[in-house]
Amino acid sequence: MQRHYQFAGFMGKRVHLGVTGSIAAYKALDLLRALIRADLQVSATLTPGAEEFVRGLAFEALGASPVYGPMFDARAESPFGHLEPGQLADAMVIAPASATTMARLAFGLGDDMLACQALAFPGPKIIAPAMNPKMWEAPATRRNWEMLGEMGYTRVGPDSGHVACGDTGSGRFAQVDEILLAVLKAISPQDMAGRKVVVTLGPTRESWDAVRFWSNPSSGTMGACLAVAAYLRGADVHAVAGPCGLTFPAGIRVTNVNSAREMYEAASEAWPDADIGCCSAAVADYRPVPFGDQKFKKTGTDGLTVQFETNPDILKSLGKVKKAGQMLLGFAAETANVEAEAARKLEAKNLDMIAANDVSSDGSGFGTATNRMLVLHRSGRKEHWPLLSKTEVAWRLWDHLLLD
Ligand code: CTP
Repeated sequence: MQRHYQFAGFMGKRVHLGVTGSIAAYKALDLLRALIRADLQVSATLTPGAEEFVRGLAFEALGASPVYGPMFDARAESPFGHLEPGQLADAMVIAPASATTMARLAFGLGDDMLACQALAFPGPKIIAPAMNPKMWEAPATRRNWEMLGEMGYTRVGPDSGHVACGDTGSGRFAQVDEILLAVLKAISPQDMAGRKVVVTLGPTRESWDAVRFWSNPSSGTMGACLAVAAYLRGADVHAVAGPCGLTFPAGIRVTNVNSAREMYEAASEAWPDADIGCCSAAVADYRPVPFGDQKFKKTGTDGLTVQFETNPDILKSLGKVKKAGQMLLGFAAETANVEAEAARKLEAKNLDMIAANDVSSDGSGFGTATNRMLVLHRSGRKEHWPLLSKTEVAWRLWDHLLLD
């Protein structure tokens, strides 16, 4: 799973996982693991159809508890298993959902354990179907899907492509990452709802000739974690991403750029409408004066001199036109004098907050899953954070910025 989807710390929250009869049922085990990695407590119900593909025992072994059996199971621990998820869990996710289960849920048929649990579930419900493309296209399935949307289900997928039976089309089970995020969003505080956030992330590439460019090893992870954390908390997020190959949930608007000047254009256009700006990109401060649009050929003489020209400072330019009510968060990647440099950049770029790290220290900086941060707020607040996952750093940074 991609690092910017690995949010954890949902302790005390519970999710009920419903699994139905589909060849994709085994992927529900990956979803279960991902939910447990997020520190969630997970219970599960498999329909008799699901049991044909995977066994409840596998879910138990991976940590689901309880795993409910059929509706009229003499061995059941409680006669009210059909009501328990509704009383205990914060969200319910049905993944994969078959055409039959969708029909049951759309029409309110309580003829199996999972359907009864869904009927009695008052909280947020997420559904991710998986079936053959012809079954997916059937008018009855389309109508049921629409009805489930109108009933308030969060609908994830289905994806398009090859399906198990050899057909091609829509009906593939969505990526587990996408389903996980939909669940996490359903149980996250929506304290950034109504805020427009623009985040720059990743490296920039400054081309020199037809085949070469100047860049840096930024993976974009820190900025991606910030974008996804804001999205989970209800913000309207626009990510301006340098070339980093990361994917984002469908609810995040992404503008892909290459060079610093393209990133500057995209961020400057988005900024006037935004409430919060966050520049985490590792922008190349200089770009090589282009050799031309041909490939540079070896000259045979020793050495090569390349000239550079200055790129725009995106964060500084946003700070210059910052309006009352807008908040701006910057980063400082340092190898020495971390605090003094961070304080200087906070002031010089007209920021509300800056998160600084020593990129030369272990576990911090480019390409890592973790960061050790010094955070300075314009009010004078200063905090040193220990080595944390970048998802946690992102969550805390928004907490800290919203304290105002
Ligand atoms: N930044 C930017 N545009 C640039 C350079 C930096 O938006 N051309 C942003 C970064 O995204 C980061 C902050 O400015 O949020 C600080 O970046 P950093 O590389 O630490 O500092 P610089 O201002 O580039 O200064 P120096 O490289 O001299 O430390």
